[in-house]
Amino acid sequence: MKYRVPFVDFATLYNAELRKEILAVVDDVLQRGDFVLRSDLQRFEEDMGKYLGMKYVVGVGSGTDALNIAVRAAGIGPGDEVITVAFTCVASISAISNNGAKPVLVDVAEDYNMDAAQVERRITPHTRAILPVHLNGRACDMAKLMAIARKHKLMIIEDAAQSPGACFDGKKVGTFGELGCFSVYPMKMFGCTGDGGFIATNDEALDKKMRALRDLGQDRESGAILFHGYSSRLDNIQAAILTVKSRYFDRWIARRREAAALYHRLLSDCKPVKLPPPPEDGRYFDVYQNYVIRAQRRDKLVDYLTKKGIETLTSWYLSRPLYRHKGLGLGRVKLPNTEQFAREAISLPLNAEIRDEQIKYVAEAIHDFYRAEY
Ligand SMILES: Cc1ncc(COP(=O)(O)O)c(C=O)c1O
Repeated sequence: MKYRVPFVDFATLYNAELRKEILAVVDDVLQRGDFVLRSDLQRFEEDMGKYLGMKYVVGVGSGTDALNIAVRAAGIGPGDEVITVAFTCVASISAISNNGAKPVLVDVAEDYNMDAAQVERRITPHTRAILPVHLNGRACDMAKLMAIARKHKLMIIEDAAQSPGACFDGKKVGTFGELGCFSVYPMKMFGCTGDGGFIATNDEALDKKMRALRDLGQDRESGAILFHGYSSRLDNIQAAILTVKSRYFDRWIARRREAAALYHRLLSDCKPVKLPPPPEDGRYFDVYQNYVIRAQRRDKLVDYLTKKGIETLTSWYLSRPLYRHKGLGLGRVKLPNTEQFAREAISLPLNAEIRDEQIKYVAEAIHDFYRAEY
């Protein structure tokens, strides 16, 4: 089906600005035959380090691998507990389970992010780390989480997959804790053309360990194989494409914030709908990877919007708490906000290429639905 307002529109963005530059760098890499662990990756890692204000960035095969490798590099394993949330991509939790540790799930607050007030009471002698997820392009309350981590001597491993560029108190997410994990999967606001991810750290030993972990456990300098590792390197071609895209990134963030402000203005008087925080929100600088509203009679609204040619997203954790998937073995958990949000959340189309008239069309359709329903 051809949507009047698609959820994302890769071709529009590609054709409008990027095509010439991307084709040129891909051709350049192909001509050189530089595919794995070459200069383009190194350049991307250095540039991203500067952008984030971090000493080291390690490019890996996906956001999922970034989390897996970060948890492993942190030395977390069997017998350890890590506190995280259930209103997130399953990868945040899988990284803990895949390393043999136990995920301890806390609820999220109204802004969909970890409720810091619930963390302390879940800390046990086995707790090693907190893994906050900066969801939808919004930072968690890092002042509170860092204070808890310091008090209890816990590590912070940030899942910043959905929020590159987002800030709390002027500091970018993924730079607060020991390790910050990012995804550059195509659907992400800073996406490449396949799978990819990266990890940021200021710790030299962690950087060294992660470079070996992503590369079959090898220390390339000494030739020693330090441990059993993975084959998970961000491809050189993807790194080159990301370097092109990084030149546009701040402009795309500005456009996303503008689009969010317009949704906010057009929908703020629609009572059956709860909006995400607006762009001007005190200590937070949101980048709106997703514009997630909560809506009464969500499923009917989604059907209505689909009929009007508007593509929305309600899959994954937006419609079913992860702990209800038996195969994940997360035990008997019940988190009230996570449950409620899975009944009410809808991700509306918001991307750098969306036009104002498309946002107005979506907002009007939502108003129409509730006018007809009441
Ligand atoms: C919050 C979060 N964490 C982790 C991931 C995993 O990233 P990837 O799809 O690149 O493996 C995603 C992306 O889907 C995500 O949204």
